[in-house]
Amino acid sequence: MTIFVTGGAGFIGSQFIRDWVALYPSDTVINFDSLTYAGNLENLAPVASHPGYRMVRGDICDAEAVHKALPEPCDALVHFAAESHVDRSILSAADFVRTNVLGTQILLDAARVKHVRRFLHISTDEVGGSIPDGRLFSEDSPLAPSSPYAASKAAAEHLVHAAAHTFGLNAIITRTSNNYGPYQFPEKLLPLAISNALEGRPIPVYGDGLQVRDWIHVADNTRALRMVLEKGRAGATYHIGGRNPRTNREVLRMVLRILGRDDNLLTPVADRLGHDRRYAVDCSLIERELGWRPEIGFEEGLRSTVEWYRENTAWVSRARSGEYRTYYQRVYGEQLAS
Ligand code: NAD
Ligand code: TYD
Repeated sequence: MTIFVTGGAGFIGSQFIRDWVALYPSDTVINFDSLTYAGNLENLAPVASHPGYRMVRGDICDAEAVHKALPEPCDALVHFAAESHVDRSILSAADFVRTNVLGTQILLDAARVKHVRRFLHISTDEVGGSIPDGRLFSEDSPLAPSSPYAASKAAAEHLVHAAAHTFGLNAIITRTSNNYGPYQFPEKLLPLAISNALEGRPIPVYGDGLQVRDWIHVADNTRALRMVLEKGRAGATYHIGGRNPRTNREVLRMVLRILGRDDNLLTPVADRLGHDRRYAVDCSLIERELGWRPEIGFEEGLRSTVEWYRENTAWVSRARSGEYRTYYQRVYGEQLAS
């Protein structure tokens, strides 16, 4: 197979590529990524010299660059590239609209022109907005995003539907809940909390810390994505959840317990503007149709994740200092520099 991945240098995309190359070494995987602050080629060091893997530095909003890089024939385009951090979207939303909306449309156009066999669009449970206790967001619930990030992801979903409806593009959308695992940029809750706790530094808890997120290990997510690519129904939307709803405080206390640190590192700070209280997805459709279920228990997944950050403090400090941004120059020379 030939697979074109966007945003493969980020957290989930790099897990997807590392797994894919290990499982299907004779396939061709092209990683198209503009290497924003969130793109870290160190995440792909394990596959960098694999003959079937190729990195192309490019922006999904650049139609010409996308057209040039997208091969024909192409079995699947897996679209991870996005601005992904809610707090940044609150500070400034324009990049979110550009990449998440315009960039998605440019990829949809290119996929149509190049007859891509399957377009897999990676979306989020956040497009459903905050869900009251006792209720679940299902695939056909109305979209009700509340942050600029979620609104841009919801807009992208509409464009995917429009391309499928108007042009018959073979497209599937997945909406996943909060992923955790190795190689996550330390601005998101878990890598930030683990890294701070390792250094005995305070962990910022937004508001009362009783917001609920459904946590899923990134490797469970990428396994679901492989199943969707292989046997998903064209036109379908699938929820991928961990069946593991927890308050932020509960998750943070588990991290501190694993590290033998005191709860007093938890430091209440001002709440996020418009903070969604609870996300919760019904993922029975993918379980029923494709036989997927999360396999990594939260306690076990959290322990191994904490262990990874403990063993990879150099990766974290390079991510924090910005030094990781020189990695591609060291490995690829000037070839990939913008
Ligand atoms: P990430 O922020 O870690 O990585 C995003 C990647 O996209 C980076 O490599 C970045 O360089 C690249 N990128 C950004 N703008 C680009 C552009 N204009 N052109 C080309 N590349 C560009 O994100 P992630 O956490 O790996 O999330 C991947 C996808 O999954 C996103 O679409 C996100 O909305 C979705 N998602 C993430 C989560 C989560 O918990 N992390 C949950 C649900 C959905
Ligand atoms: P985050 O990792 O940003 O993911 P999302 O907002 O997409 O769910 O945040 C997860 C939860 O943790 C969310 O409720 C906000 C909260 N949070 C904190 O309490 N402190 C922090 O420092 C961060 C980054 C997030």
